[in-house]
Amino acid sequence: MEQLVINGGHSLYGEIAIGGMKNSALPVIFATLLIKDECVIYNVPLVSDIINSIEILKQMGAKAELTENHTLIINTRDVQDEIKGYELISKMRASSYLMGTMLSRAKKAYLPMPGGCNFGARPIEQHLKGFSMLGANCSCENGFISINASKLLKSTKITLDKISVGATINIVLASVFVEGVTVIENVAIEPHVDDLICFLNTAGAKILRVGRKIYCEGVKKLHSVRYRIFPDMIEALTYMTFVGACSGDINLTGVNYEHIKYVCDIFRKMGFEIDAYYDEARVKAGKNLVGASIETAPYPLFPTDLHPQFSSLLCFTKDGGEIKESIFPTRFAYAYELEKMGAKIKREDNVVKINPSNLSPASLDATDLRAGAALVCASLGTNGTSRINNVNYIVRGYENLVGKVSSLGGKIKLLKGE
Ligand code: EPU
Repeated sequence: MEQLVINGGHSLYGEIAIGGMKNSALPVIFATLLIKDECVIYNVPLVSDIINSIEILKQMGAKAELTENHTLIINTRDVQDEIKGYELISKMRASSYLMGTMLSRAKKAYLPMPGGCNFGARPIEQHLKGFSMLGANCSCENGFISINASKLLKSTKITLDKISVGATINIVLASVFVEGVTVIENVAIEPHVDDLICFLNTAGAKILRVGRKIYCEGVKKLHSVRYRIFPDMIEALTYMTFVGACSGDINLTGVNYEHIKYVCDIFRKMGFEIDAYYDEARVKAGKNLVGASIETAPYPLFPTDLHPQFSSLLCFTKDGGEIKESIFPTRFAYAYELEKMGAKIKREDNVVKINPSNLSPASLDATDLRAGAALVCASLGTNGTSRINNVNYIVRGYENLVGKVSSLGGKIKLLKGE
């Protein structure tokens, strides 16, 4: 088994490039199913979730090539109506986008329940509610989802009961070709949603988002496109937590400051110096950061995908803080790992209180993608050698983490298993 070995306690200096956003590249890749022609997609991160999504489409008959310079050339013209790649589908949350895309393309979708990071229930009833309101028949039995449109889908108004990135994206994907205007209310407005809308509109769709409402006017066909994925806000913010834990002065290139501004303002109050200009952010942190208390919430507020890394950062502050997790109330597996390092953490329901802690190196297990990033953060800031197992979770979403951290002066190595 692969293992990350981190010798912590070294400040970080230098410059790294932030990649394309995993969580928008994923729906964009599945959305190529709506375009039966060649698409060229730039700034695609080379992470395992992306590689597995492309593999699913290839198993269904797509031709695709992802190059070292982050360009995906994909053509789904010959994709068959049957969904294939069940094993990969059941490991990945984003494979749920096969529901909306195949409903649009083939008028049916039959697939295993999508998997994904394991931090509690990941229901899909809002996705199915949207498909049903458009006129599809949906059922779930023995771990499989079946969606069928025996008649033409009809445009309608759909109000989500809960703000959901996945449901918003899936309903948009299902509505692209539906005659008339489908209105979706109470939608997620994460940059990944806008990235997908932008991609579809570039290909000829007619979709408009105004606040938490999306208007999708059905079109007959989409055409071939060249498109560039937005920068990954969570990758950028994760590296900022690393600098906070270690202190230092780094420059991040290829970021979109608008997407990270809310969290940068919190970092500034903690004592970070952040200068953002054009698509770069220079981030400096010293040894005497103050703590902060936050609550996770849908964009534009504090992202749940930064909660674990932020907890690690709080351990290194003068007065710690509290985190209330309002999106995935059981996303706390990382806390047991931080406790192995001596972190002083108290958890009650969906709130953790992190006290400033003198961490010691330890042998740790990543339990999911962001939990893994949190352990990297804690290990980089702690004097001595820590080891992190289950690296497979971390490579789902962070491209070349070892190379990027090393180029900043962090002492990190990937030990290959037998
Ligand atoms: N929810 C429902 N019913 C539904 C759908 C969602 O109750 O039908 C609830 C969820 O249980 C959760 C909340 O709504 O409490 C938000 O879930 P959402 O649907 O927005 O999450 P998702 O689409 O499954 C995506 C990202 C996650 C990220 C969340 C929240 C992808 C592939 N995944 O998941 O990313 O945490 O949005 O922003 O885009 C990650 O990158 O590490 C990751 C887990």
